[in-house]
Amino acid sequence: MKEKLNNIMEQASQEINNVTTYSDLEAVRVKYLGKKGLITGILRGMANLDANERPVIGRLANTVRNNIEDLISQKRQIIRNMEMEKRLKEETIDVTLPAKGGVLGGKHPLTLVLDEIKDIFIGMGFEIAEGPEVEYDYYNFEALNIPKDHPARDVQDTFYINENILLRTQTSPVQIRTMEKNRPPIRIIVPGRVYRSDEVDATHSPIFHQIEGLVVDRGITMGNLKGVLEVLARKLFGNNIETKFRPHHFPFTEPSAEMDVSCVVCGGEGCRVCSNTGWIEVLGAGMVHPKVLSICNIDPEVYSGFAFGMGLDRITMLKYEIDDVRLLFDNDIRFLQQF
Ligand code: PHE
Repeated sequence: MKEKLNNIMEQASQEINNVTTYSDLEAVRVKYLGKKGLITGILRGMANLDANERPVIGRLANTVRNNIEDLISQKRQIIRNMEMEKRLKEETIDVTLPAKGGVLGGKHPLTLVLDEIKDIFIGMGFEIAEGPEVEYDYYNFEALNIPKDHPARDVQDTFYINENILLRTQTSPVQIRTMEKNRPPIRIIVPGRVYRSDEVDATHSPIFHQIEGLVVDRGITMGNLKGVLEVLARKLFGNNIETKFRPHHFPFTEPSAEMDVSCVVCGGEGCRVCSNTGWIEVLGAGMVHPKVLSICNIDPEVYSGFAFGMGLDRITMLKYEIDDVRLLFDNDIRFLQQF
């Protein structure tokens, strides 16, 4: 019996030594100490022993059981340490590994062209101004010398919120807001969203973008206007671009003009984009009407100014040869990724 117990002790300690996982260790525990385990079996069989043998074997069996229990709990600790070490190794962050490429966003084509135009004007000493998109009738029309019966006021074109308040149809109201608050010299450009009740198609959108320009100072002439806009055209479309000014009418400028540039697609030969004329209209402009200066308490006898307004969407379409304005508003990632 003694020998049997010693053998069991020997065998158990070897098996415990060899296991490397919790589940194997548990199997060993069950084998020796479980309900039907070897040690348990011996303790149960004590009744059959001689009375004088019983305490001796009993003590030995208890010692063996305690030893096995100790070995098992030591081993459990060892396995715990091993697993911890393994996990730490696996979860180490190697900061020297190359980074996974993140997805970088890009600027919308309208923003790209707007940034370019801002830079051009900032380079000529202009500042950037802004104004509200929900505007008073007074600033959008009245103060710009657009009389009550002017076709631009037609409810067809303008989104009215009530009799006096509307969604601005142009960025020109910011001319008035700026001249009300500032004295000359004034040199601003005003980028912003404008609204007109147009049916959506390839060239029309009820929301679009304009960039207004305004210069007021002593001795400003049409020559200054042409100079500034020619610089703009060349920087925007390249040095070979030609410009042409045609007489036009705007209620708030006098004289008024529209500027055409030689077709950026065919260079003036004539193509689909320029409707075979070789020219493309890009902006409206003129000398600020004396009435408009007076309304803002700027003396037209002392000061003069020029103003211009261009469509950012149209210019962006020309620059990138985009043939449908809706592409600028759909935000289809496949389109936007090309810029
Ligand atoms: N506001 C005019 C338009 O929307 C453009 C313009 C601006 C014309 C400034 C002259 C001067 O058509």
